[in-house]
Amino acid sequence: MIMRIKTGIIGFDTIIGGGYRPNTVNVVVGASGTGKTIFSLQFLLKGIENGERGIYISFDMDTKAVMILAESLGWDRLITAMENAELMVTRSYAESISYLNEDIINYIEKSTDGNTRIVIDSFTPLISSPDFGVRRDINWFFDQLRANGTCVITVEEPFSESLAKPDTVLPVFLSDSAVYMKNIGYGEAFSRTIQVIKHRASWHMEGVFPYRILPGLGIVVESDLEYAKGVEDISPILTKFKLDKGIESKLRFLAKKEIPVSRALIERVLKIYESENK
Ligand SMILES: Nc1ncnc2c1ncn2[C@@H]1O[C@H](COP(=O)(O)OP(=O)(O)OP(=O)(O)O)[C@@H](O)[C@H]1O
Ligand SMILES: [Mg+2]
Repeated sequence: MIMRIKTGIIGFDTIIGGGYRPNTVNVVVGASGTGKTIFSLQFLLKGIENGERGIYISFDMDTKAVMILAESLGWDRLITAMENAELMVTRSYAESISYLNEDIINYIEKSTDGNTRIVIDSFTPLISSPDFGVRRDINWFFDQLRANGTCVITVEEPFSESLAKPDTVLPVFLSDSAVYMKNIGYGEAFSRTIQVIKHRASWHMEGVFPYRILPGLGIVVESDLEYAKGVEDISPILTKFKLDKGIESKLRFLAKKEIPVSRALIERVLKIYESENK
């Protein structure tokens, strides 16, 4: 089974199929205040707790700002990690870097052992004036990030504009996974929601899930645990249907995955398969 990178965001691993895949670039899209920075730091904290290293590159948060936020969340371990250089925090100035270049990649390469959690919060200033070469350049940049570890980049959703702007769309297109964080502001239960837009080479849940931001726990996604139990044993299902070897081995592959597919769903699908293959 492919190893998954546990994100540390409670309930989030369930909706993305068990965690991130190693050496991938994962996008978090959200408007101001949706929790992109907290998401990013929580991902890094989990790595630190696992004995991994972390790099946090930001354009508006310096070391002090990160410490204040971490302290407000009760994440002392993150502060110690910064003091011990297990977590490197770098504030870049968009004016001086502006646009993707090798400086950031060189800095990352210098600071990792090849499997470090990397966060760029946010990616938007790096590509805010996209031209024809930008897609190729983002691809190049993402490849360098993948080569150095598992990466989260956050992308700013512009106020009162669609997600169709190139500086939102391109990172989402070229990434390995993308999630969309929203704050509709209806209050409590469904005020904040998160949805998986895509996850390459992975199953993921399709719903819109409520999340909260809590001191101590950080971002908590209320993914549906009942639904997430999965199919433990498919033998009783197999005996119900007359199936050929091809579909049977596919079912066994599915059953081995720790993903939530109900028995009822499999039975419905098999009925359709049977009728199509009479
Ligand atoms: N210590 C805390 N405890 C509980 N909730 C908090 C705490 N700190 C911040 N929050 C919540 O998280 C929100 C901000 O989250 P965050 O800074 O991660 O958002 P962001 O998407 O990065 O926004 P920005 O546009 O400022 O970068 C706050 O508006 C508040 O609702
Ligand atoms: Mg932020």
